[in-house]
Amino acid sequence: MTSSTPTRPTLIPISLTVNGLPVDAAVPGRMLLADFLRDELGLTGTHVGCGHGTCGSCTILVDGEAVRSCLQFAVQVDGCALTTVEGISPDGRLTPVQQAFQDNHGMQCGFCTPGFVCSLTGLLAKDPAPSEETLVDTLNGHLCRCTGYQNILKAARQAAGRPVEGDQ
Ligand code: FES
Ligand code: FES
Repeated sequence: MTSSTPTRPTLIPISLTVNGLPVDAAVPGRMLLADFLRDELGLTGTHVGCGHGTCGSCTILVDGEAVRSCLQFAVQVDGCALTTVEGISPDGRLTPVQQAFQDNHGMQCGFCTPGFVCSLTGLLAKDPAPSEETLVDTLNGHLCRCTGYQNILKAARQAAGRPVEGDQ
């Protein structure tokens, strides 16, 4: 019987910006972006719920676009600018989206919250006054096991400058 030595994966160099800071790393080609952020960079605010693109809890911003980091490989963001929930507030104060979640009790356990915050932040950067339909569409891409969604929708409306109770 022959024993085989496991081969180490080839490491691929990547250079990117994460929360405004330059990052140079060497990663296996199959390392997921979510694992890179959490395990290599220690940015554990990016949560992994389902691991296959359904729950939205791993959402971050890549060049301003909301992206599910469990569906990307780290090598795919070579050269990109990433923002995770840790970097969503440039000055350390609550952003309007974060403040809206606090004001409206838009979280309970908080597991889903970084994903909601990143998605809404990305949306409002491109569309500061989204319609109710656009807001609901954005929230639709996220699962929350705790809140029943009503307070999250209120928070999203507040952040978007819409009536918190909805158009009456
Ligand atoms: S962990 Fe990425 S979408 Fe659920
Ligand atoms: S607040 Fe618990 S999963 Fe959303």
